[in-house]
Amino acid sequence: MDLRKKIRNIPDFPKPGIMFRDITPLLACPDSFREAIKQIADQYRGRKIDAIAAAEARGFIFAAPLALELNASFVPVRKPGKLPFDTQAFHYELEYGVDTLEIHTDAFQEGEQVLLVDDLLATGGTMNACVKLIEQAGAEVVGCAFAIELSFLNGREILAPHECFSLLTYD
Ligand code: PRP
Ligand code: ADE
Repeated sequence: MDLRKKIRNIPDFPKPGIMFRDITPLLACPDSFREAIKQIADQYRGRKIDAIAAAEARGFIFAAPLALELNASFVPVRKPGKLPFDTQAFHYELEYGVDTLEIHTDAFQEGEQVLLVDDLLATGGTMNACVKLIEQAGAEVVGCAFAIELSFLNGREILAPHECFSLLTYD
C-alpha cells in the first residue's frame, strides 16, 4: 500500500512558498489510516511506553489510535487556555508562525516513559516544545514519531538526541 499517494500536495497554503502536505485523503481511507497507525506502532511494540503525548490538533489524530494500539495512556498537549486544571507552558516557533503549548501539571508521573507523536515534522519547533514540557514534568521521552517528515527543514537536528521515526519523508 503506497501511503504517499494518500497525501495531497497543496502549493502556497497557508501562505506563499509553503507546500502543504494534506493528510485528509489518508484519513478518509480507513485501510490507509489503519495501515499508517500499524506501521508507526510496529516501531515501538515491545518497548515500555506508559503514555503517548501529542499536540493539538492534527497530532491528536494519530496519537489517540496509537495509544490504544500500544496500550498506553493518551496525554493532550494543548494551545493556551484550553486545559481546565493547573498548566505549564512552553513557547515555540512554527514553519509559519509562533505559538505556545501547555500540559496539565499532573499529566505525568515522575519517570514515566513517553512517546511523542505528531502528524508532521517541519522545523521541529512543536515537537521540541512537547519534549521540553515532558522533561519539565519529570517524565522521559522515549522517541518522537511522525506520519510525515519535511527533511529539508532539519527538524530532526533540534530533536537530537531523541530518536525520531517518520513514515513518509519529503525532501
Ligand atoms: C502543524 C503540524 C505540526 C507542526 C509542525 O501544526 O500538525 O504539529 O505544524 O511544524 P513544526 O515542526 O515547524 O513545529 P499546526 O501548528 O499547524 O496546528 P494544527 O495541528 O492545529 O493544524
Ligand atoms: N505544518 C507545518 N508545515 C506544514 C506543511 N508544509 N504541510 C502540512 N502541515 C505543516
